[in-house]
Amino acid sequence: MTTNFDEAIERRNTHSEKWDDMEREYGISSDEGIAMWIADMDFRSPQSISDAMQKVVDGSLYTYYGDKSSYFDAICNWMDRRHGWKVDPSWILSVNGVNNGIALAVQAYTQENDGVILFTPVYHSFATIMRANNRRIVESELVNNNGRYQLDLDALEAQLQGDEKLMVFCSPHNPGGRVWSLDELQAVAAFCIKHDLILVSDEIHHDLVYAGSKHTVMALAAPEVCDRLVIMSATTKAFNIAGAHIGNATISNEVLRKKYIATMNAGKVSASGFGYHMAEAAYNGGEEWLEDWLEYMAENKRIFDEGINAIPGLRSMKLEATYLAWVDFADTGLSPAEFTERVVKIAKVAPNSGDTFGKGGDNFLRFNIATRRELVVEAVKRIAAAFADLQ
Ligand SMILES: Cc1ncc(COP(=O)(O)O)c(C=O)c1O
Repeated sequence: MTTNFDEAIERRNTHSEKWDDMEREYGISSDEGIAMWIADMDFRSPQSISDAMQKVVDGSLYTYYGDKSSYFDAICNWMDRRHGWKVDPSWILSVNGVNNGIALAVQAYTQENDGVILFTPVYHSFATIMRANNRRIVESELVNNNGRYQLDLDALEAQLQGDEKLMVFCSPHNPGGRVWSLDELQAVAAFCIKHDLILVSDEIHHDLVYAGSKHTVMALAAPEVCDRLVIMSATTKAFNIAGAHIGNATISNEVLRKKYIATMNAGKVSASGFGYHMAEAAYNGGEEWLEDWLEYMAENKRIFDEGINAIPGLRSMKLEATYLAWVDFADTGLSPAEFTERVVKIAKVAPNSGDTFGKGGDNFLRFNIATRRELVVEAVKRIAAAFADLQ
């Protein structure tokens, strides 16, 4: 491994939402707290990205970004090499980020009060976007099968009211880290075809898949769904460049794509120029860094799970992808307010509250473990101490 993920990076007083807003959000000062909420990493990004930005800085070149051919080449090469997915550059629409891209899909393909399907618990912004757009959220609760989430499409079918127009599917899933199997992906695609739904497959985490699991891009799992499919992807999670604010909606169907472009035009949506430079450099020069990251994080995950699972009543879901550990506190017998109070006030660790992820999330907290090992070990130690009376 050539990357040193153990390096202590000072993120306080750098306008880091995760660290510098922790006191306001949790009442934990950044001098004593461990920030494990917002999904970015306490690691340096690949050197290729800094080199690309250095060129921009050296030339004081902060102007409009044009000629996107090398950016598209970088994406197409990456998707082909890493995912076996052949993308035509004309299918790619660059937006302000994946959340922005999902909001655009909702606006392009649905009307006010239409139903939008989410599999909960799921990344909280999906619901925030639907509410802000006055869409009716249909929550299909995932089944927690002995610590592994599964879809229940029969139960979902029974919930339908006939006004559902779109489904947002998180693949791999956040939280819980499921990498969906080919059968599951095909079942989701068949469901969307049967019920005439647009399928938005959010694959922002698809490069963060651990050894032993295999992600399949929805377009490959079920080519028959491509005429109703929007795939969201980005470099921002995998290479830790969320501030770049860039993501891609890949839409192979021309009619669907034109509708999406019309909605982009109506809002004058365009990605950040810095984002293009950074994303291209990530895909072209970040592969070795990513391999190192996967190796380092597999050990962070092992240490976190081992420590958490040794605490009576706590259970960490086995992540197949992502760095967002999802811990079930149900067997402590404590209420969400009580176990959260212990983690936040006693252990001084700041996780995300499970209830913000929708139905099925109440008894959980989500911990971002993409930080140097020393802090993962320290967080586990503090949480164990905060629950010591249960042992
Ligand atoms: C599943 C998922 N989609 C989208 C986002 C946000 O993406 P962006 O910052 O590009 O809007 C996140 C961030 O954590 C996420 O986990």
